[in-house]
Amino acid sequence: MKVFLTGSAGFIGFHTAKALLEQGHTVHGYDSVNSYYDPFYKEIRLKVLRTFPNFHFAKGLLEDATALSTAYLACEPTHVIHLAAQAGVRYSIENPHAYISSNIVGFQNILELVRQHRPENFVYASSSSVYGSNTQLPFSESHTTASPISLYAATKLSNELVAHSYTHLYKIPTTGLRFFTVYGPYGRPDMALFQFAARMERGEKIPVFNHGQMVRDFTYVDDIVAGILAALAKPEQGGIYNLGRGNREPLLRMIEVLEQALGIQADKEFLPLQAGDVVETSADITNAQEKLGYDPQTGIEVGIPRFIEWYRSVHPRSLTFTK
Ligand SMILES: NC(=O)c1ccc[n+]([C@@H]2O[C@H](COP(=O)([O-])OP(=O)(O)OC[C@H]3O[C@@H](n4cnc5c(N)ncnc54)[C@H](O)[C@@H]3O)[C@@H](O)[C@H]2O)c1
Repeated sequence: MKVFLTGSAGFIGFHTAKALLEQGHTVHGYDSVNSYYDPFYKEIRLKVLRTFPNFHFAKGLLEDATALSTAYLACEPTHVIHLAAQAGVRYSIENPHAYISSNIVGFQNILELVRQHRPENFVYASSSSVYGSNTQLPFSESHTTASPISLYAATKLSNELVAHSYTHLYKIPTTGLRFFTVYGPYGRPDMALFQFAARMERGEKIPVFNHGQMVRDFTYVDDIVAGILAALAKPEQGGIYNLGRGNREPLLRMIEVLEQALGIQADKEFLPLQAGDVVETSADITNAQEKLGYDPQTGIEVGIPRFIEWYRSVHPRSLTFTK
C-alpha cells in the first residue's frame, strides 16, 4: 500500500505509520506539527519515522487546500488514513476556532481529495465523545449520537455525517473509527495519564475531576493501530466502529495502577466535573470484533507500566512540562 496519513507526527498517527512502515508499506505523512502541546513530542516521533526509507513527510495545514493537494498528489496514495485533528475536549472551550478550522474545514479538504482521486479506502478518526450525554452503557454504534456535549464532539460527529453524505453521493469508501481514551508510549502530554505521571514525579497534587467518580475505557495504542489497519484492509461504504478495550476502568483504579508503576503515592485533589466532560465511557466492541476481527489484548495493568517505561526514558525529572 501507498498510504497518505494525516496526523503522522501525532500520537496515534506515529504508531500507525510505524506499523505500516514495518510491514513494508510506503507512508506519506502530513502534519502541521502545531504547538497545541509541546512539539518536542512530535519531533521525537518524526525522528523515529524518518529512520525508515519508505517514510516521506510534508509539513502543512489541513486548511491549506493547495498544500494538502500537492502533498496528496505527490503520494498518489492507494489508501488514506486521516488522523490529524484538533484533539482534546477541554481545550475546545477556550479555543473553539481551532476545532472548526482543523476538524470541519480540514476534514472537508481531505474528503474532497478522496472524492476526486478515489483511493481504495479512506479511514478517519472519530471519537467516543460523539455519544455525548447518552446514558445507555456500554456505548454501541446503534445508540443515538444526537447530543454531543462539547464542540470537539460536535466536530467529530459532523465528520461522520459529512462522510456519510459523500459515501451516499459519490459511492466512495469511508470508515469512521470511534477511539476510546487511547494511551501508551509516545502518548499525549495533554491527557490525564501523562499529566498525572508528570505531576506525581514532581511531587505535585493531581486534579481528580468529578471527585474521582469517572469511568473510562482505556485503550492501549497497539490495539487501536490493529483496529485501524483492519479497517483499512476492508473498504466499506459508511462504516462506523467503536474501537475501545471493552472494559470499564474507574479513574481511581487507573490512578492505583499508575502509583504502582511509578512507585509514587498520588496526592489527589478532588474537584467537580469539568464542562464538556462525560462521566463514563465504555465501548461495546462487538461490531469491530465480528466484522474487523478486532481483538484488543492489553489491559491497563500491562499498558500503564509500558507507558511509564517510555515516559521515564524520554522524560527525566528535571525536564519541565508546561501544558
Ligand atoms: N488519543 C485519544 O484518546 C483519542 C480519542 C478519540 C479520538 N482521537 C482522535 O484520533 C486522532 C489522533 O489523535 P492523537 O491522540 O494522535 O492526537 P495528536 O494531537 O497527538 O495528533 C494529531 C496531529 O494532528 C496534527 N494537526 C492538528 N491540526 C492540524 C491541522 N489543522 N493541519 C495539519 N495537522 C494538524 C497535530 O500537529 C498532531 O500531530 C484525532 O483525530 C483525535 O481527535 C484520539
